[in-house]
Amino acid sequence: MEKRLVSGEEWQSEDESELSLRPKTLSQYIGQAKIKQEISVYIQAAKQRQEALDHVLLYGPPGLGKTTLAAVIANEMQVNFKATSGPAIERPGDLVALLNDLEPGDILFIDEIHRLPKNIEEILYSAMEDFCIDIIVGQDSTAHPVHFPLPPFTLIGATTRAGMLSAPLRDRFGILGHMNYYTQDELIQIVKRSANVLGTLIKDEGALEVARRSRGTPRVANRLLKRVRDFAQVAQKEEIDQKIVAYALELLRIDQEGLDDTDRKLLQTMIMLYNGGPVGLTTLAANIGEENDTIADMIEPYLMQIGLIKRTARGRMATKKAYEHLGLPYKNN
Ligand code: ADE
Repeated sequence: MEKRLVSGEEWQSEDESELSLRPKTLSQYIGQAKIKQEISVYIQAAKQRQEALDHVLLYGPPGLGKTTLAAVIANEMQVNFKATSGPAIERPGDLVALLNDLEPGDILFIDEIHRLPKNIEEILYSAMEDFCIDIIVGQDSTAHPVHFPLPPFTLIGATTRAGMLSAPLRDRFGILGHMNYYTQDELIQIVKRSANVLGTLIKDEGALEVARRSRGTPRVANRLLKRVRDFAQVAQKEEIDQKIVAYALELLRIDQEGLDDTDRKLLQTMIMLYNGGPVGLTTLAANIGEENDTIADMIEPYLMQIGLIKRTARGRMATKKAYEHLGLPYKNN
């Protein structure tokens, strides 16, 4: 039998190493300069006044570091960080239990906050505004209102689109942070930092190649880096160079622009079946076998960002650049 290289305790799951890739402080956090600059002022001001930070809403495409930034804010505020998500809170009691557990100044992070059930969202209104909850406990003849005071706390909500939140909930956030896709330079810095944390050597050209194919998204960059590291290690390369990145990503079927099979299938469907569009979201979803939300939140925003598709009143359209990317002849109709 093959000998294990390390004892059980030394095995690290990828999730654990992922956590260690995450920055702990605002100064370690790369990119999102506008949000960082603003939030560092609000953090300093709140700390000086010894108050809880105002509620924060972070919105933008998946994988841009909303959870990471929320944890960084808690660390900078020197308070506890409790994380949950909209779909995980099913009953009013779940939310009450979370709120009940908070100490003054603590941060409650709710990911996918747009997926909170409506009756629970309503409990949040008074919790956010007046730091108290009023709920009905018991049923029928034993039903009675109960008033819970709460410590001042900070709610950080994250969502892919701010427009999916109801207006009353959105209005209760004092600080709005719009997360943008990262620039190539920022992704290069993230890849180099992550390589350093993982103890892997990477050449500038290798970091550039990973960054170029990461769809402006740190989560993607870190995932690709780990896969490329595996290829480099097995090929006994001491340093990750452009060649091994290109080789690994070709096997992973990730192209020059960072598009995968699903992205290309979407573009091909628009072009081959619908003559480039306009075509509706639901029609596209049915054709490529994905959910509407998956296309709208995860696939389409990046294709739009790099100008391969555009949205019109009558539906989505493939641009000339999309035809060129797939090597198809463009007919201007
Ligand atoms: N790892 C993932 N996202 C990061 C970021 N924005 N800055 C630094 N390291 C990261």
